[in-house]
Amino acid sequence: MATILGIGIATLDIINEVDGFPTEDAEVRAVAQQRRRGGNATNTLVVLSRLGHRCSWAGVLAEESDAGEILADLSRHGIGTGPVHRAGGKVPTSYVTLNRQNGSRTIVHWRDLPEYGFEQFRTLALHPYDWLHFEGRNVEETRRMLEHAAAVRPEVPRSLEIEKVRPGIETLLLHADLLLFSRGYARDRGFGSAGELLRAVRPSAPDALLVCAWGEDGAWGMDREGDLLHTPAFPPPRVVDTLGAGDTFNAGMIDALLNEKPLAIALEQAARLAGRKCGLSGFDV
Ligand code: ADP
Ligand code: FRU
Repeated sequence: MATILGIGIATLDIINEVDGFPTEDAEVRAVAQQRRRGGNATNTLVVLSRLGHRCSWAGVLAEESDAGEILADLSRHGIGTGPVHRAGGKVPTSYVTLNRQNGSRTIVHWRDLPEYGFEQFRTLALHPYDWLHFEGRNVEETRRMLEHAAAVRPEVPRSLEIEKVRPGIETLLLHADLLLFSRGYARDRGFGSAGELLRAVRPSAPDALLVCAWGEDGAWGMDREGDLLHTPAFPPPRVVDTLGAGDTFNAGMIDALLNEKPLAIALEQAARLAGRKCGLSGFDV
């Protein structure tokens, strides 16, 4: 069992389940509705905590009533919130259309809250942690956090999720040991496959493990020797909910690497875990 700090966001996800994705300007009735805590870093922490790790979240929590739901869910999963910073604003909210036919999720995200910053991060005692997981957002502040962590606890691995193209985000690549890219990032940068992306970013992160998940096609990784590895996806009998599949995959990677698995095995374990998640609603993997 390891002690893990995740730095990133918590959201409120309002999920409308529909029987087939609506066309634009249509009016359809949802067949069910759920409110859940979401957010990439906290989703990953919830899965890691279910895998038996001791987890804490560092992020910003709005001083408003919806924050209670976030705290209640994190507490239910035993996730520490000591490093949380409170600020005025609104809990970031995602309006999700979840298609019951194929589990696809379409997200409209609303955000009106300051980002977690270096000033908050530098006050944290990092000595309890065996792993630090970051979301690649708020680039300049995240770079300072990564550099600080590398200076204070060089022996503690740092993983970094690169989900979206953001100005300057490539400057972060050098500062992590495990880089977790998304298919959306690869495509937005003009790459047609995970392999192309990983080959292109290798010179910017010569010592890191590189990983890129690619939905139903599984995931690719590049080891420190530059070899490209692939795992297929492991589809469940019925795909019901892909919201947070990538966050679950990232948790599987962190768990496997903490257990000193080689990259090929880590990729497969992460894809199996993410596949299981797609077969059920939420994160009770
Ligand atoms: P995100 O949730 O960030 O969009 P992906 O769609 O790339 O992430 O999914 C991450 C991982 O989850 C994939 O590598 C795959 O292993 C698994 N996965 C995603 N969608 C499916 C699916 N429909 N069936 C089985 N596994 C899936
Ligand atoms: C899933 C997710 C949702 C959240 C959104 C934030 O990966 O974390 O839970 O609403 O993405 O971008």
